[in-house]
Amino acid sequence: MNETLVDALTEAEAAAELARLAREITHHDKAYHTLDTPEISDAEYDALRRRNAAIEARFPALIRADSPSNRIGGAPESGFAKLRHRVPMLSLDNAFDAAEFVEFCARAKRFLGRTEPLTFVAEPKIDGLSISLTYEHGHFVRGATRGDGTEGEDVTTNLRTMKSLPQRLSGPAPALIEIRGEVFITKADFLALNQAQALAGSKVFANPRNAAAGSLRQLDVSVTAGRPLSLFAYAQGESTEPVANTHWDYLLRLRDWGFEVNPLSRRLGNEADAEAFQNEMALARSGLGYDIDGVVYKIDDLGLQRRLGFVGRAPRWAIAWKFPAEQATTVLREIRIQVGRTGALTPVAELEPVNVGGVLVARATLHNEDEIARKDVRVGDTVVLQRAGDVIPQIVSVVTERRPAHSVPFVFPDTCPACGSHAVRPPGEVVRRCTGGLTCPAQRVERLIHFVSRPAFDIDGLGEKTIQEFYNEGWLHGPADLFRLPQREAEIATREGWGRVSARNLSRAITARRTVPLDRFIFALGIRRIGESNAKLLARHYGSFANWRTQMLAATTVGSDERLELGSITGIGPTIAEELADFFAERRNVDTLDELAAELTIQDAVAAEAADSPIAGKTVVFTGTLETMTRPEAKARAEALGAKVTDSVSKKTDIVVVGADAGSKARKATELGVRTMTEAEWRDLVA
Ligand code: IVH
Repeated sequence: MNETLVDALTEAEAAAELARLAREITHHDKAYHTLDTPEISDAEYDALRRRNAAIEARFPALIRADSPSNRIGGAPESGFAKLRHRVPMLSLDNAFDAAEFVEFCARAKRFLGRTEPLTFVAEPKIDGLSISLTYEHGHFVRGATRGDGTEGEDVTTNLRTMKSLPQRLSGPAPALIEIRGEVFITKADFLALNQAQALAGSKVFANPRNAAAGSLRQLDVSVTAGRPLSLFAYAQGESTEPVANTHWDYLLRLRDWGFEVNPLSRRLGNEADAEAFQNEMALARSGLGYDIDGVVYKIDDLGLQRRLGFVGRAPRWAIAWKFPAEQATTVLREIRIQVGRTGALTPVAELEPVNVGGVLVARATLHNEDEIARKDVRVGDTVVLQRAGDVIPQIVSVVTERRPAHSVPFVFPDTCPACGSHAVRPPGEVVRRCTGGLTCPAQRVERLIHFVSRPAFDIDGLGEKTIQEFYNEGWLHGPADLFRLPQREAEIATREGWGRVSARNLSRAITARRTVPLDRFIFALGIRRIGESNAKLLARHYGSFANWRTQMLAATTVGSDERLELGSITGIGPTIAEELADFFAERRNVDTLDELAAELTIQDAVAAEAADSPIAGKTVVFTGTLETMTRPEAKARAEALGAKVTDSVSKKTDIVVVGADAGSKARKATELGVRTMTEAEWRDLVA
């Protein structure tokens, strides 16, 4: 990222850089090959190697004895015996685009002094681990991992457990032959294996490649036997007799002997066909049963292969044309909380920009607070980033080995970063939301659009576009500002798309809505879960704006009578009561509400049921313990039917409902000759 361009390096800087790269590459080789736990993406690893190679090309005198260019993989390090490869197992150079592939072909042709096109064999490059299998007189005798390319680990016993590995070659074969191929695990087997591992509380593998390596390199062979390892054969090492003249024919021999050869392998008559094959494979990739990270192109003619030979760790006759990497690692600079138009707080990762699959990524979603906790993502962490197609880049995991010493777990804020209102997360929900809907700048436009919509204030001529337009002008901070728009009528009339008539009409439409029924008013506030029908229930129950406001403020106290009453309104319930309480607990909302109410005439609600109910207009007192309903519930029901509920009995009282263990109030009612009834009689009356 911030690396000096190779061309700008001084000799001293180059030497220091080569030392650093040798150290880093060695470290990552070990992490990848020996420990099966890579810390960086393949693309990043490739970038390190390329930089190393570029510096060496410019300063050949500085090439180190331990240069990563001269070695590959990781030295064997386990309980396995070492096995020397008769012919070294080398690696491949990479191409990342068509230009690099063309350059590779040009180099090969220059080397060969030839101009006519080359015939290639193209094989999907599987992400697994390469192995070398030795057959003597047709019998499998030894098998080894690549190791450092010269010496690998003797995994013969483990390999014998694999069904796809022929113990005997069918048909005539050289006295001794080394056959190379890739051991891998299919995507489906990988998922099943990880599930089983997780269930057993065992190590879960990061990817199919690590799972394959971890499965083969088991000291207990019975573990390997239980693992779903597959094998494709694709190359040769030592052979006591020539087997074929072309690589293509060699693959056919492998198949005849009983190996599986990747059926997608194809002979390309001309190097110009490579690009089409590359695109074809890129498209096929996601649908394949196994992971591939590119295509290997091998010059078909084995005679030409011999002439071309090797340079450093790679052959001159083959190249791996990689797909653009879709994973990369980078540093997480900051976790920013974004507030959506509906008040949802979404964490966004701000990253050290990194190239993922050809796209520079500086930001990724972290979904929600549980996700952050689950992955324990912290500011300063090195994270593995993934980009699939068009979807927003995601953080897959954290490279905990690279975590800074002083890092602390991320604490999700409980206030809205856009407006400072408190942000709440209802039980059972994953999303934390800002409660300052009316004031929060992140939600303002959305709220205003809702506010003027048909079932709310129903202001003609004020649509989404106009709201956005006036908002951009800075005219609309809260809903109260809508009612101040008529003051700008002259100014509006001069705007593009407006005229005197339309401006006048808008003013009229707004003014006409200064008188509003309570239920529409409540609905317009856009409180979560308060749709039209709940707004109606509330309006009917509380009757007037003033009463509703007082009751809601009191209901912010958990366990208060007002809160219980609110929760016991049929159709409301405790969850919605909590949303209302959250809204009113936010001072900014109440201020905005009051500012708005000052602009309006809010009409009382007419209780539909109340008009012809037997208790309409009556004053009711409940006393004693009610058995089939709570006190707030009884009160709510009575009020819904148009009664007034009071605490003390007087001559003005019409009905006293006497519950169990009633005391002085019941006596007083009898004294005053007020009508009393039992709970059951009351229920019949209001049923
Ligand atoms: S040929 C000297 N063919 O890619 C040539 N390698 O980056 C040696 N690989 O170590 C390799 N599919 O693990 C070859 N069809 C294929 C391959 C393949 C996957 C792996 C293999 C090798 C690495 C080189």
